[in-house]
Amino acid sequence: MKLAVPKERREGETRVAATPESVKKFKGLGLDVAVETGAGAGARIPDADYEAAGATIAPDARSALADADIVLKVRGPDAGETALLKKGAVLAALLAPHTEKDAIQTLAGQGVTAFAMEFLPRISRAQAMDVLSSQANLAGYKAVIDAAALFGRAMPMMMTAAGTIAPARVLVMGVGVAGLQAIATAKRLGAIVSATDVRPATKEQVESLGGTFVAVMDEEFKNAQTAAGYAKPMSEEYQKKQAALTAETIKKQDIVITTALIPGRKAPILVTEEMIRTMKPGSIIIDLAAEAGGNTPLSKAGETVEVHGVTIVGTTNLPGRLPVDASSLYARNLFNFVSLLVDKKTGALTLDWNDEIVKGAAVAKDGELIVRS
Ligand code: NAI
Repeated sequence: MKLAVPKERREGETRVAATPESVKKFKGLGLDVAVETGAGAGARIPDADYEAAGATIAPDARSALADADIVLKVRGPDAGETALLKKGAVLAALLAPHTEKDAIQTLAGQGVTAFAMEFLPRISRAQAMDVLSSQANLAGYKAVIDAAALFGRAMPMMMTAAGTIAPARVLVMGVGVAGLQAIATAKRLGAIVSATDVRPATKEQVESLGGTFVAVMDEEFKNAQTAAGYAKPMSEEYQKKQAALTAETIKKQDIVITTALIPGRKAPILVTEEMIRTMKPGSIIIDLAAEAGGNTPLSKAGETVEVHGVTIVGTTNLPGRLPVDASSLYARNLFNFVSLLVDKKTGALTLDWNDEIVKGAAVAKDGELIVRS
């Protein structure tokens, strides 16, 4: 059985789907591992380290992918790579299943069994495979570090002989995995932190990290969480009340980190242009939802803009800016997922289609697209 790790081909993708550590573990499962030359360069992993861990270095994607039974990637394969995948190969990657439907259709047509790691069910047994969490955690951290770097003031309160510096005020909007890490990081830097979300469970989480919870806590709020743990789209009426509260809160903030997402939909607008106008000059907004349309109407994915004296960073792929840690966690997630698909004694692929993790993450199987309602 051959497992292949091609080089990432998307512009700006610095991460890699396997590390020497995960290669060693795959070898332990009885798999042959082929890594395309240069695959680890963005994450500072030389070919030689993969080789020392037992991998074969393939000179190009074609030889890496030839006859591969399992293919691991960070982002979905491009058309060229897809054409090289053999029928029946298993692919695991961040396939962006909500937006990249055509690419997944092509994978299905190729007879590939494709797993979109975004669809992994969020059950405790799957926590060690949860790439959304491992990457979002790093994104939350980096968002605060980026904000602090752009901010023309210090984060903590400082009492000096020359006078006192007031601490920065940080508001985190959306308290999922990224939001929680953003709160923790901003607190560690000494900021005064508040946070908001529509899921009631987040109130206690914010408070346990030393933040102040700010939200409209009405009947709708009490039911705003789906069984899968995600936020529901909120009614227009709720959004109006939420906007009024945000308008009051945001004027006092120096840094706003927005992370609000609803899977498969455009991100909700939480900060309007009117609100941005009321912010102090020199304030910073880091919008982690920029790729999904943005939590402000002025965010531009992949760009930093200055509007009404406020710097708005439409950040994309923040985990890719911490490629060493992001790859290391991602590779461990994928190893844990692949272990579930491989017979520990024979090293053969054994996909248990009754397992909710296998079923949940699959987007293509036996030449067919798996469509979710
Ligand atoms: P996400 O990336 O889908 O969304 C980020 C946050 O935005 C969420 O907290 C969401 O409630 C919030 N949001 C959406 N609309 C909003 C609005 N209008 N105003 C304010 N906030 C809004 O979330 P993520 O990080 O993927 O986490 C989703 C859930 O999954 C959480 O409950 C998390 O604790 C849970 N989870 C469970 C795991 C498990 O294994 N049991 C592992 C990881 C996460």
